[in-house]
Amino acid sequence: MARLVWIIHGPNLNLLGRREVAVYGKTTLADINDRLENLGRDLGLEVRATQEDGEGEVVRAIHAAWDAGAAGILINPGALAHYSYAVRDALAAVSAAGIPIVEVHLTNVHAREEWRHTLVTAPATTGQVVGFGPASYELGLRALAGRVGSEPRG
Ligand code: DQA
Repeated sequence: MARLVWIIHGPNLNLLGRREVAVYGKTTLADINDRLENLGRDLGLEVRATQEDGEGEVVRAIHAAWDAGAAGILINPGALAHYSYAVRDALAAVSAAGIPIVEVHLTNVHAREEWRHTLVTAPATTGQVVGFGPASYELGLRALAGRVGSEPRG
């Protein structure tokens, strides 16, 4: 049985492909999810993806991943990464329960506006991949595959 991994996309990521294309590129969220599903299959992972615009919804998605017995979480919290202690605490709870979390960002947030340099979510994650466009997600999923247990969680 494939191990379950939840992909959580935060606010505004549904707009990928038509949102500030000079910054975020033309790849849509559906394309990214397709790529992750295919890669997941190769890695023995069942991928379940969700996109949420609200802080509370992202928190609930993290709880839901835990409740569903996810073996790992791949998350792009979007702008919430820069200020949401609620998202950070939810990630910390799941992380403390032994579930690995990889945070990804399409852009190199450290090379952008100063307010994007702080990632309050990052300390609650296993690691981060930033700056590689859609490949950030694929690299993140590969990293996660190396961290999730070999047995499905019950
Ligand atoms: C982002 C970076 C954030 O600063 C921004 O608010 C986003 C996208 C990224 O993937 O590069 O919405 O998370």
